[in-house]
Amino acid sequence: ETEKSDYKTKIKQLLVEKNAVLVAHYYTDPEIQALAEETGGCVADSLEMARFGKTHPATTIVVAGVRFMGETSKILTPEKTVVMPTLAATCSLDVGCPIDEFSAFCDKHPERKVVVYANTSTAVKARADWIVTSSCALEIVEHLDEQGEKIIWGPDKHLGSYIQKNTGADMIMWDGACIVHDEFKTKALKDMKALYPEAAVLVHPESPAEIVELADAVGSTSQLIKAAQTMNNKMFIVATDRGIFYKMQQLCPDKEFFAAPTAGEGATCKSCANCPWMAMNGLKAIEEALIDPADKEVFVDMTLREGALKSLNRMLDFSA
Ligand code: 13P
Ligand code: SF4
Repeated sequence: ETEKSDYKTKIKQLLVEKNAVLVAHYYTDPEIQALAEETGGCVADSLEMARFGKTHPATTIVVAGVRFMGETSKILTPEKTVVMPTLAATCSLDVGCPIDEFSAFCDKHPERKVVVYANTSTAVKARADWIVTSSCALEIVEHLDEQGEKIIWGPDKHLGSYIQKNTGADMIMWDGACIVHDEFKTKALKDMKALYPEAAVLVHPESPAEIVELADAVGSTSQLIKAAQTMNNKMFIVATDRGIFYKMQQLCPDKEFFAAPTAGEGATCKSCANCPWMAMNGLKAIEEALIDPADKEVFVDMTLREGALKSLNRMLDFSA
């Protein structure tokens, strides 16, 4: 414990010395989220993380999250130093959508608009016409559909089919999934609902359709936190990464939150309700990134940056 507080004190000093700000995702460890709050940084969903880093005056941004979040930050503010506790923190959606294959897939349907989830590499973003996060995906696809556009959607098939169902848009899907949300179990969730009939079920749309069908509210991390605050229920079953409980409990101290069931009882599952890449963000690694960013600084290819920036700005302007 004293070690943790030592790290925190040191990081606080370093953030000031280096004119740096800590931007953390809701899935990072509670101590990291608390530190971001205590130091004037932010804890947010992927859309708001991007916006915050862009407008904050600090010259160094420390992104506690996964690689695509750091790259997005660098694309938006190439003049700033962007560092991450570890560059190895990837995302199964990003890994499952290599640029060459994705680009060939898009080439087969040149008449379609390419809409990609933010959880992708800079190269995939540069290939896209639009980038979306789960906070704004529904509205953006609705808008494109109203304009009569047909869509190529990548990489998350669950989020894609959720949006397809809700907008009726003509969408061709890439076959990708989040290893964390893919682990929620339908039968066990039904049993849990029966056990706690007064609980509301909150689901991130990266979860499979059968899980989404059991939800009382579906949305991005920030939308699920809003739902926890605004719904009258005192009890919630939450199907997303458990890191989100920090903010939910902080904002709703008198409510109870339960994790939705994952792989069967007694089973071990490395990715169950806790993203293994988000978990790579530790206090020690944050301190190291501030002391010596050598192998922790995020760079993006400047040619790809231009294309990615165009589609990222389209999203930011649309959802402003
Ligand atoms: P949000 O944009 O909802 O924060 O989601 C990011 C993410 O990686 C979810 O798994
Ligand atoms: Fe990617 Fe899933 Fe981890 Fe989010 S929770 S960063 S979508 S692997």
